[in-house]
Amino acid sequence: MTFNPFSLEGKKILVTGASSGIGQETAISCSRMGAEMIISGRNAERLNQTFSNLVRSGQQNHVQVTADLLIQTELENLVSQLEKIDGLVLCAGIANTKPFQFCTPEKFKQIFETNFFSTIELLRILYKKKKITDGGSIVIISSVSANRSDFGNGMYGATKAALNSMMRYCANEFAIKKIRINTVMPGMVWTPLIKSDIITSEQYQEDMKKYPLKRYGQPEDVANGVIYLLSDASTWVTGTTLIIDGGLSLG
Ligand SMILES: NC(=O)c1ccc[n+]([C@@H]2O[C@H](COP(=O)([O-])OP(=O)(O)OC[C@H]3O[C@@H](n4cnc5c(N)ncnc54)[C@H](OP(=O)(O)O)[C@@H]3O)[C@@H](O)[C@H]2O)c1
Repeated sequence: MTFNPFSLEGKKILVTGASSGIGQETAISCSRMGAEMIISGRNAERLNQTFSNLVRSGQQNHVQVTADLLIQTELENLVSQLEKIDGLVLCAGIANTKPFQFCTPEKFKQIFETNFFSTIELLRILYKKKKITDGGSIVIISSVSANRSDFGNGMYGATKAALNSMMRYCANEFAIKKIRINTVMPGMVWTPLIKSDIITSEQYQEDMKKYPLKRYGQPEDVANGVIYLLSDASTWVTGTTLIIDGGLSLG
């Protein structure tokens, strides 16, 4: 057998937000690396598309669970469908770009409910119910926006900064069980989340010039970083943020 420290063979991994974009690609890539997947998303039709694209070789018995994580009963139903998992990728999220003067408490509440509270609540329940195997690995999809000041991105960035902070506290607390937790901070990645009718392709081209590597990311650029953090190649890595942004953060 070939030595591969990034293999996910024998691991059961739950990915939220698997019906689209980064979560979809992460789920498919993890299955390609040998993991048995539990995938979740709101949109049943798109989740099913991901499900049919999961790689099946050997003993991989994948499962899909439709769940809106804002609905407590659906979140609990997702948890109840799981036995023990070795990996968890918390990817579900939304964006909302607005100048600060239009960031009302309702808008803050809406984005924090999805990006922060439902993510953390799912993590809390899984940890409390001991559904994460000792030695398991958790990856939260944060964003470089947590550390930036791009116009109109404040609410979104604040949700991601909150996730980075919570991740560090959990890393300390979970270490007793050798459970690791890290965040991945992508720059702009081509997914439905960033597609806008208002932004022209010239504006996208202009924005990409800010990236030293002169392009936005593809979902697989992020998925590959997630695989590293889920795999045994990173067993001494916890409480950290992995920036994947084509060099944008170099400034
Ligand atoms: N794309 C980027 O440039 C970028 C950069 C940095 C970080 N990120 C982060 O990466 C993650 C994935 O984003 P993406 O770009 O892949 O976006 P996407 O293509 O829009 O996918 C978002 C996913 O989140 C799910 N979701 C949203 N609200 C949910 C809820 N209440 N309950 C359950 N699932 C919910 C969606 O489910 P449905 O399919 O049912 O809607 C979908 O699967 C997000 O956390 C995002 O903040 C993205």
